[in-house]
Amino acid sequence: MSIKIPLLRPYFDSEEMEEIKKVLDSGWVSQGPEVKKFERMTSEYLNAKNTIAVSNCTSALHLSLLALGIEKGDEVLVADFTYPATGHSVLYCQANPVFVDIKPDTYNMDPEDLNSKITDKSKTVIPVHTFGQPADMDEIMKIASENNLKVIEDAACSFGAKYKDKFSGTIGDTGCYSFHARKGLTTGEGGMIVTEDDRLAARMRKLSVFGISGTWDRESSDSFHVPEFTEVGYNYKMSDILAAVGVVQLKRQDLIIKRKRELAKHWDDLLNEMDDIQPPAISKYSIHVYQSYVPILDRGLNRNRVIQKLRKKGIQANIGTYASHVQPVYASPKNCPTSVDIFERTIALPMYYGLEEEEINEMSAFLRSTIAEVR
Ligand SMILES: Cc1ncc(COP(=O)(O)O)c(C=O)c1O
Repeated sequence: MSIKIPLLRPYFDSEEMEEIKKVLDSGWVSQGPEVKKFERMTSEYLNAKNTIAVSNCTSALHLSLLALGIEKGDEVLVADFTYPATGHSVLYCQANPVFVDIKPDTYNMDPEDLNSKITDKSKTVIPVHTFGQPADMDEIMKIASENNLKVIEDAACSFGAKYKDKFSGTIGDTGCYSFHARKGLTTGEGGMIVTEDDRLAARMRKLSVFGISGTWDRESSDSFHVPEFTEVGYNYKMSDILAAVGVVQLKRQDLIIKRKRELAKHWDDLLNEMDDIQPPAISKYSIHVYQSYVPILDRGLNRNRVIQKLRKKGIQANIGTYASHVQPVYASPKNCPTSVDIFERTIALPMYYGLEEEEINEMSAFLRSTIAEVR
């Protein structure tokens, strides 16, 4: 059966095409003035001092770890329930990810488990703002400061989400966003790092462009100098073509978030009337942006069968995300039981700007009968 209602559909219109055309016509299609503009606009939107556009969020996490001095043998505490990009970025530095269990309601890092897993090798903690809902940053920042740990926020899914009065991603030492196709603001692939620390920003920018000196000066200066490479860096640049899309998408962010929050409320109301499934919990201190809408099925229901039946009907449901520590690549101790439980029971349902209430009504009716069948 073909897909009738996709898990997501990015919202683009003719403005993106117009902006892309301008970049193509300009002849400057790799990193250049449009990236600079996208960074400047993102700084203003998030009220963040430094922004560095990069190729994706995984490279943003890698650069953050490198700039914070993470090296072989260091331990980095990582929220377990996440896409494995988070754990992988730690392995890129030859450091060891130590996975921290999550809370069963918000699916975010459990501060108590964080506390219990700190050792004298721990250097940094990476909370993840799961599916667009900010983690408990006050508690995490407090534990980090008491234990001399740096904080990298994995805000891949939470661009525009707020923790109290601050944007997620702007609270830790660095914040990393993803602009992958499944994210609220998308450039197809892409990412952004924010930090208040000028020294970290300069270091991450340099490492994102092969380790070259004077990255932006080179582009804008009239005078000529031959740059030097003082260390090994990476090619983690964003192109001007993608930045042009980002500039347009950023202008629409508030509209998209508002609509997705309305749709989530509609899903919530319908799921609240059903047995054996709970809508995602909302914490009091945050504004959830619903990168994904991920309710949880009661124990004993076969989540994979529910997904299969929805897909057969043309509804593109999926798992929420992964319990990282059980992924063979990490060879980790099996010590995040809540994450495994949530991994096995959560289900991502369609959620995107262009979705209609009527479609949610139809999907929830089908979901109700499907749950009754597999019970
Ligand atoms: C929580 C989390 N962190 C990091 C990433 C990696 O993002 P990217 O695909 O932009 O590298 C993802 C991607 O889905 C994610 O969900």
